[in-house]
Amino acid sequence: MTDYATILVERSGAVTLVTLNRPQALNALNSDVLADLSAAFGAYDKDDSQRCLVLTGAGEKAFAAGADIKQMADMPAADFFLQDFFVGWQTGVVATRKPWIAAVNGFALGGGCELAMMADFIIAADSAKFGQPEIKLGVAPGMGGSQRLTRAIGKAKAMEMCLTGRMMDAGEAERSGLVARVVPLDSLVEEALKTAATIASMPPMAAMVNKEMINMAFETTLAQGIVTERRLFQILVNTEDKAEGMAAFIEKRPGVWKGR
Ligand code: CAA
Repeated sequence: MTDYATILVERSGAVTLVTLNRPQALNALNSDVLADLSAAFGAYDKDDSQRCLVLTGAGEKAFAAGADIKQMADMPAADFFLQDFFVGWQTGVVATRKPWIAAVNGFALGGGCELAMMADFIIAADSAKFGQPEIKLGVAPGMGGSQRLTRAIGKAKAMEMCLTGRMMDAGEAERSGLVARVVPLDSLVEEALKTAATIASMPPMAAMVNKEMINMAFETTLAQGIVTERRLFQILVNTEDKAEGMAAFIEKRPGVWKGR
């Protein structure tokens, strides 16, 4: 197993648990974290034995309190443009084809909230707090927050949060559709791993296709999305796992998946 400087990676059966591990900086996201996460997510995506991933933060206080302000503070403006700063989150994390869950254990602010929203869904601890407070730093979301938050909770709340920098607690986040479920902090990782194990027990190609279909709803028109759904369905019906899944149902036994 690879050792990383800023994250911990553990595997249990078909589930990978990744923990952001800079608790002294409330797991702030710097270039090293991005490089480590990109490598870990890339390895997960390529490893046939791994079928779901959970991302959480070390410590009880924060999932991630944002992009690393200390790294950005003295960075020349031109470098943000020339390095296309933040693009690596798209290529290294969002591009992951297999399912993954964010288990948000505390503050998810700025880039931390944006990272959580890159996940297929969020399970939040009752102590979680979400926000896009970049305006207070003279900037704005830079890792997709203005787009993903608006799609998740609608214009009124997204606008209010980004313009005031106020935080949303776990209950409001659940009511607003930002998170799938809220659980007590002390059972957060256990609950997320249990959910991940359920996903990992499903036919893996079907899991990838379900993920791709739902993400398509954010990328295209309804008519085009429905055509894409139908085409992806037509690909799945040719898989060995489809034959097995339907046979297993008829024979009243659990399916045994080949992943093809
Ligand atoms: N970057 C770098 N360091 C951070 C950080 C961040 N985003 N957030 C917290 N830290 C550090 C603090 O500097 C502090 O370090 P020191 O002990 O060395 O001083 C340590 O983590 C603990 O933080 P606090 O002492 O501030 O803890 P607190 O309990 O008093 O407050 C908090 C907690 C409200 C989350 C506060 O830390 C905070 O407001 N953090 C910044 C939140 C923020 O503005 N995030 C957006 C960043 S910009 C961004 O993310 C851009 C983008 O869209 C991609």
